Amino acid sequence: MNNNVLIIGSFLAGIIGRLEPELEVHTLWTAADPEAFLREVGGCIRAVATDAFSGASADILRHLPNVEVIANFGVGYDTIDADYATAHDITITNTPDVLNDDVADLAIALMLAVMRRVAAADRFVRAGGWPDGPFPLTTRLSGKRLGIVGLGRIGKAVARRATGFEMDIAYHGRHEQPDQPYRYYGRLTELARDADILVILVPETPATRALIDGDVLAALGEHGVLINVARGPVVDETALVAALMRGRLGGAGLDVFANEPHVPAEFFTLDSVVLTPHVGSATRETRAAMADLVVRNLQAFFRGEPLLTPVRR
Ligand code: 8YV
Repeated sequence: MNNNVLIIGSFLAGIIGRLEPELEVHTLWTAADPEAFLREVGGCIRAVATDAFSGASADILRHLPNVEVIANFGVGYDTIDADYATAHDITITNTPDVLNDDVADLAIALMLAVMRRVAAADRFVRAGGWPDGPFPLTTRLSGKRLGIVGLGRIGKAVARRATGFEMDIAYHGRHEQPDQPYRYYGRLTELARDADILVILVPETPATRALIDGDVLAALGEHGVLINVARGPVVDETALVAALMRGRLGGAGLDVFANEPHVPAEFFTLDSVVLTPHVGSATRETRAAMADLVVRNLQAFFRGEPLLTPVRR
């Protein structure tokens, strides 16, 4: 039986040993001429493994006429051409739930870091500034008004943590969730208006690209803080830079960016901004659990067993 799987990016090199010898593993990133490689082996590939940074474009998938499954390392699969996959009866699997806690923890960490200027305070001490006087007063996180954009599994994990900080929690999404104890806002700008901190937790889709635009940032206001642990393109990054540089937004905690790994240099000059390099799920425990899901989905497929975490579009 054809047991050929293609791994697209080196990000998943660590799972090769777990797939072999049961599966025949091909690696695109090691090919000297990827196009020629795909022309040579593409026809025998039945499954693909990829990650958020490598994706699976239509240009690649066109070389894989017999592929049936794309196993994505990550919950977000926006770098996979999902429309192409659907049109060609290709099932995408992802890695939900195992990363909820880490991403939620980082969202809270960024809130604290921005509100209490932790990174700036660290730089202040390391630069020898303390003997010259105290670090400026910052602002409290506990009890503040939190607006959650996207009350999905990670959004609910953030809300549970924020409850511990006695925050006033509200959310915006396509639909109200009556079973949730938090206040629902049908209009995003109204949630932003009534929030001290707005945390972005929606997937990147055509409908959510630039969802956080100049109007939302203006509603959040000069004392408001934006936290993004979702996807960079969900925020109009040009509008964000302008709002921060002009003092029309109080601060931002950003783990994701429009053009990773490149980050607007304007952010580097602002103590009100805390930056992390897309590390929401980047703990040993969680990345191991994600890799395990990728491997188990692939093994299930080739064994003719039900997939563990197929994406339902
Ligand atoms: C990973 C993520 O950094 O799950 C996601 O959508 O963004 C992160 O967990 C990424 O998926 C690595 O492929």
